[in-house]
Amino acid sequence: MQRQPLVIGNWKMNGSRQLVQQLATTLRDASEMLGVVKVAVCPPAILLPAWQQEVFYDQVHLGAQDVNEHAAGAHTGEHSLDLLVEAGADYVLVGHSERRQHYGDTEQRIQAKVDAILGHTEQKLTAVVCVGEHEQDREAGHTMQVVQGQLEHALANVSAAQLMQVVIAYEPVWAIGTGKTASPAQAQEVHAFIRQWLQQRYDAAAASVPLLYGGSVKAENAETLFAEADIDGGLIGGASLEPQGFLAICRAAQ
Ligand code: G3P
Repeated sequence: MQRQPLVIGNWKMNGSRQLVQQLATTLRDASEMLGVVKVAVCPPAILLPAWQQEVFYDQVHLGAQDVNEHAAGAHTGEHSLDLLVEAGADYVLVGHSERRQHYGDTEQRIQAKVDAILGHTEQKLTAVVCVGEHEQDREAGHTMQVVQGQLEHALANVSAAQLMQVVIAYEPVWAIGTGKTASPAQAQEVHAFIRQWLQQRYDAAAASVPLLYGGSVKAENAETLFAEADIDGGLIGGASLEPQGFLAICRAAQ
């Protein structure tokens, strides 16, 4: 099955209204690429309304970097799905390693967030489930075991019919923000494992799930990574903050 290439920019806690305008201008001039590659940007939630003011934002999807699993209520500082959707988001990152490590995203919370995203009735949302091993896991030969455990928890309640609303992002923790990119062979090996796990659990529906690689993707290495059979695009951190570099990465996914 031919999956549309997908590139998502994860701004993390960076960016500004000025960067929104700069990137919007850069992407607006690349409409031919946008016809081939699906592009989404996940700025800090507070910048989502600034994207909404960019009239072409319907060509570029918007996403949130996290969500609270509750619909509303006494959750100071958190964002609900309804509020993120109102701000234009239809993608939501879940279980990013930085949230797993520093902000209390346990397997149970990640599962609850995935269930909330896929169960949202107002609008069909896409959950971008982040998985990946630490350096010591890889050195111990436990990479596939760790990734499988993360998938089993995150997708425990996800049906085959819901897979159309799921993206998996493999982000080896040791490659995030370090400049130590996984080699195409290393990334492909894990992506092939994820594809096989999905096929064993969901049969034919598994083919629809885009598998993104994340971890020090740059304009210089994107093409060789995206050329791998089971790498359908990328989840881009630092390089998404530089409009021309991010555009080059998107073009590499064509
Ligand atoms: O979510 C993407 C991010 O974790 C990758 O960051 O800076 O290594 O591209 P970076």
